[in-house]
Amino acid sequence: MMLPETIEWISETPMLRLLDQRKIPASVGFVLCRTYEETAGAIEDMTVRGAPAIGVAAAYGVVLAAYHDPSKIDEALFRLSATRPTAVNLFWSIEKMRSVYNEYKNSPELYLRLESEAVKIDKEDRSINRMIGVNGAGILPDRAAVITHCNAGALATAGYGTALGVFRAAREAGKKLRIYADETRPRFQGGRLTAFELCEDGFDVTVICDSMSAFLMSREKIDAVITGADRIALNGDTANKIGTYGLAISAQKHNVPFYIAAPISTIDFNCPNGTSIPIEERDHSEVKRLGSEILVDERAKVWNPAFDVTPADLIKGIITEAGIFEPPRIKELNDRY
Ligand code: MRU
Repeated sequence: MMLPETIEWISETPMLRLLDQRKIPASVGFVLCRTYEETAGAIEDMTVRGAPAIGVAAAYGVVLAAYHDPSKIDEALFRLSATRPTAVNLFWSIEKMRSVYNEYKNSPELYLRLESEAVKIDKEDRSINRMIGVNGAGILPDRAAVITHCNAGALATAGYGTALGVFRAAREAGKKLRIYADETRPRFQGGRLTAFELCEDGFDVTVICDSMSAFLMSREKIDAVITGADRIALNGDTANKIGTYGLAISAQKHNVPFYIAAPISTIDFNCPNGTSIPIEERDHSEVKRLGSEILVDERAKVWNPAFDVTPADLIKGIITEAGIFEPPRIKELNDRY
């Protein structure tokens, strides 16, 4: 089977077709969004997730608002911004849509301009990911063993992926890889999504519980840990899925280089360091239950931050479409972009 498209814009109707990531791998189904409200709901309930993917989906949400009622575009921009707080790509793409709106709000071209901006954000994400892949592939030797966390693949982006894009590009360059995917509690993006995506594409993938990666590094030569990112602060501190920080500490202890793969749109040039990154806290039920099964005594308290921040000094390099940067050097990208 081929990997289904994460996000598909159906211009004629118009509507947005999202792969329902909550159901994978048990079933492959799609959710259709015909309004911005439905798009915002799909971001909130994690039908679509992953930093670049929610940015692309939100851009199309603004187009849907323009189609039905242009007087609701301000409301749509506000509603879509309020869906998830950590991934900066969401706000980056909403700001791009806002500036097109401001420029064309009194023009008959408004709808087409917004649609073409959203399509551009979507297409560029795919091509940027390929560049990230090519830039990162060189760090991996042939027959490399790597660990990744959460899902930073085609499912988390418009296509190809960031961290998984590096693995794809390394394979396209003729290298064989063994990939360990952390299952990624509490929502299992690694076990459910990364394993599915890599199996569909014929990679050698082994799923481990998050608690196993330190022991794995002590027993087997791991060549690199590569994850995606949701927001990178100006000093290189990086927010990504909860568990990334612990993985980076384990990697340092075992002399395994730890890399982030992310587009420049994931860098928040207004955010000086990791303490300024807003961290989403999600519902207790994600930890306490698995579907209808009760995992934790209801009387116990739960803390459920969806992301953590890996300090810059644990990160060997940030792999972007413009090359690989040591964390303090990402500041240079502000002048270039
Ligand atoms: O809560 P999620 O599933 O949206 O979190 C996703 C991640 O943390 C990814 O690693 C990150 O967005 C990078 S995706 C290329």
